[in-house]
Amino acid sequence: MKFFIDTANLAQIKEANDLGVLDGVTTNPSLMAKEGIKGEANILKHYETICELVDGPISAEVLSTEFNAIVEEGKKLAAIHPNIVVKVPMIKDGIKALKWFTDNGIKTNCTLVFSAGQAILAAKAGATFVSPFIGRIDDSNWDGVELIAQIAQIYSIQGFKTEILAASIRSPLHIIKCAEAGADICTCPLDSILGLLKHPLTDIGLAKFLEDAKKM
Ligand code: E4P
Repeated sequence: MKFFIDTANLAQIKEANDLGVLDGVTTNPSLMAKEGIKGEANILKHYETICELVDGPISAEVLSTEFNAIVEEGKKLAAIHPNIVVKVPMIKDGIKALKWFTDNGIKTNCTLVFSAGQAILAAKAGATFVSPFIGRIDDSNWDGVELIAQIAQIYSIQGFKTEILAASIRSPLHIIKCAEAGADICTCPLDSILGLLKHPLTDIGLAKFLEDAKKM
């Protein structure tokens, strides 16, 4: 399973990349706004900087919702760097645009996916990645991880090539459960990735080894 970091914060992207286990980055308009990135030129520049930091797929989301506008915006984003993946919302014009990008060799990430039916449509349109939002599903009293398992089963039976990118991850446990359920990728906040490191017995064991090492 691959790890993407889900942020537009350059310091966090660097920290995750320095661990040596980072495979890519996802952003969305909320994450970009959180970093205070404003205006088209600054937005494009920020994506370019992320591409220089991490050698892997970098999702950049379109803000348009109409087919022609999505295609024009996506072409502009894809021209920034070969690693850019155009992130397109799960709407009717988004599906049409996904198919257009697929036919024109542009990689895509279908975002805001909350059901197996939506995931089938994204795969039919040739999306490179599909992003089910598991944390937001949990928030609405459904089981986000179950959706990952359902999509993984459908994609496997049907031979769809779209990769399952579990998004809206809220905890290290989400990452483990998504790995079990068949996600190809988890896109996570830095805290959730670092949370995988933690176990009290590791800390206790290391303290004891270091203490005993003084007697060596
Ligand atoms: C990533 O592709 C998604 O936009 C992101 O994971 C959404 O996460 P949130 O539900 O924590 O906003």
